[in-house]
Amino acid sequence: MSSPPSNLVSGSSGGLRGGQGLPARVFITEVGPRDGLQNEKQPISATTKIELCERLLNAGVQRLEVTSFVSPKWVPQMADAAEVLAGISRRSGVRYSALTPNMKGFEGALASGVDEVVIFAAASEAFSQRNINCSIAESLARFERVAQAAKRHGLKLRAAVSTAFGCPYQGEVPVEIVVHVTEQLYAMGATEISVSDTIGVGTAQQVKEVMLACAQSVPLTALAGHFHDTYGQAVANVMASLEVGVDKFDASIAGLGGCPYAKGATGNVATEDVVYLLHKLGIETGLDMQALVEAGQWISQQLGRKSLSRAGNALAAKWQSEEAVAQ
Ligand code: HMG
Ligand code: MG
Repeated sequence: MSSPPSNLVSGSSGGLRGGQGLPARVFITEVGPRDGLQNEKQPISATTKIELCERLLNAGVQRLEVTSFVSPKWVPQMADAAEVLAGISRRSGVRYSALTPNMKGFEGALASGVDEVVIFAAASEAFSQRNINCSIAESLARFERVAQAAKRHGLKLRAAVSTAFGCPYQGEVPVEIVVHVTEQLYAMGATEISVSDTIGVGTAQQVKEVMLACAQSVPLTALAGHFHDTYGQAVANVMASLEVGVDKFDASIAGLGGCPYAKGATGNVATEDVVYLLHKLGIETGLDMQALVEAGQWISQQLGRKSLSRAGNALAAKWQSEEAVAQ
């Protein structure tokens, strides 16, 4: 395993909690409306998506991944991207983003007034073909054009590297490829790269190794964790990332989600569960736990099932029983 980058030596950076070596502040990108809903089979109205976004904004979310400008043939649930973006309130200090797989997607996102576009490559050839119908090299060439267009138009650029911890089609993914793709995306100007566990197979030690390997090539501050929770490892993987100094995470309200091209993969780590952990560690998030829990319970009711957030369900039950006692 590679040694920690020098900026992680305990107490050496203003952004880290000296004694514990954990970040003092963590930035969460809420991906529920996009990663969360994209995999839902039942049609969800734009009105429901807009209300979810508003509830998340009311909870203090400042980085909101609203939707995707992808082919409606590939992901029908995201076909209303422009309508959803047109319907949500724009609040100062909030970064509204959308996924853009190519220039067509970029044009749609630009016209809808996003602040940030998200390009998404894979570290596995098989997954790249299934998800975006091209090789990794072809995808990087497409993303270069999107990145340049983003720069020309003054939009922020974020990126994801899928299958960084394992692939549903090819199995193991060499860490060198994860590092290579991460480097390429950083070189294009992506200020944040989500090292993504698409199918939730990664475990804590592996997460540390992959994050540290990437941090040898790009600044640690450019890395984010994106952990699906298929094997119940996502909160542990967030903790492992924090321990090596990662201070950015994607999370999905109520643990919604999955990728339609990663069969069997469940949702992202639940935002409520990550925020519960962070607040208990004394780490700032700027998020209001109660409003998050309420948003998670609300969208779960809309979808007709129980929330997948353990912390969200526990807190909702606790508050309900406290209310009953008080009456
Ligand atoms: P393609 O079929 O190769 O595209 O799909 P094409 O360029 O050959 O065009 C075919 C048709 O699609 C044309 O229309 C295009 O206009 C249209 P036609 O002439 O047949 O009527 N088209 C589009 N329409 C709307 N928006 C666009 C667009 N581009 C082309 N942007 C493509 C290639 C990339 C478009 C397709 O494969 C696609 O949309 N894939 C997206 C898959 C996806 O959204 N997956 C989930 C998101 S990634 C994810 O969840 C992982 C992540 O969370 C991290 C992790 O967990 O790992 C980020
Ligand atoms: Mg994902």
